[in-house]
Amino acid sequence: MNKKVILSGIQPSGTLHLGNYFGAMKQHITLQREGEAYYFLANYHALTSLQDGELLRKNTHDVVLDYLALGLDPDSCTLFAQSDVPQTTELAWILGCLTPVSLMEKGVSYKDKISQGLSPNIGLFTYPILQAADILIYHSDLVPVGEDQKQNIEIARDLANKFNYAYKGEFLNVPEERIVESVSIVPGLDGRKMSKSYQNTIPIFEEGNALKTRIGLIQTDSTPLEEPKNPDTCNVFALIKLFGTQEEVNEISDLYRSGGFGYGHAKHRLKELMDREFSEPREKRKELLDRPGLVEEILQEGGRKAREKAESVMGPIREVTGLSRRSE
Ligand code: ADP
Ligand code: TRP
Repeated sequence: MNKKVILSGIQPSGTLHLGNYFGAMKQHITLQREGEAYYFLANYHALTSLQDGELLRKNTHDVVLDYLALGLDPDSCTLFAQSDVPQTTELAWILGCLTPVSLMEKGVSYKDKISQGLSPNIGLFTYPILQAADILIYHSDLVPVGEDQKQNIEIARDLANKFNYAYKGEFLNVPEERIVESVSIVPGLDGRKMSKSYQNTIPIFEEGNALKTRIGLIQTDSTPLEEPKNPDTCNVFALIKLFGTQEEVNEISDLYRSGGFGYGHAKHRLKELMDREFSEPREKRKELLDRPGLVEEILQEGGRKAREKAESVMGPIREVTGLSRRSE
């Protein structure tokens, strides 16, 4: 039986944070050996919000280092940059010609981003079409993403069906989404969704005093130290739940409820749990910094493999759409 194609992307639009880790990267790493996995840096998508070439290049490089440090193995999956596969934008145009404007107008992510102050550019508006092309160009079966990406995956399924219907054949595979079940939305310092655009993040590779200061900024209510507290409404506890074992989480939950356990204590426990989870990746990331050329080597090889696959899907599409000429 053929292996399932697993595909996901992440925008190199800033420093990666715990929302990206639990909502996306952690499961990318877990899934890398369960199928034919493709993971990419969505640098075309990042252009919708970032117009600084040097910064985009640096972020792209940093996200590769983050992935490698966290355990992504480029021998088990294909890691590449979106812009190294031009077939993606080619397919995006074709899909755009089958996309009703009204479908884009329903996009919640567009409205969200505009309300956060991003410029309402066409790239942002048609973002889901490019994302659909990302997914469909590899005949992906499974797309592991966070809850907030649900609608975009639904649009990709919709566009695959529209294409197949219009051209009367099974040219594009209709993918499934795989939403991380245990994590819906990771809260940020202010309790809203943790997001680069809200400046409320805890970066994955923050450590030492900088991490302590960051954790110190998590908003809590003003219940005095000695009084019992409700863990279920506390932002610190929401993060503790992501890092702790069931036993640790139960223990800390009991401490909240029994009183005499302050938010400062909770934050200290959170830092300990984060240090445990990330101590190895932090060391590994420092080692990787001593290997110049490694990231580029990985992206070159990943790009080559991804292009090969994308080209095999694009061939029949050019044929059926009439874009390629028949040799007489
Ligand atoms: P940001 O909102 O910080 O710009 P992205 O939109 O680039 O993050 O998200 C990259 C991936 O990380 C997506 O798959 C998304 O679902 C996941 N993700 C981002 N923030 C969170 C969060 N707070 N909780 C859960 N998953 C998240
Ligand atoms: N939109 C995704 C995000 O903001 C990134 C992304 C682009 C993606 N293309 C994709 C995710 C294809 C999954 C599949 O995180």
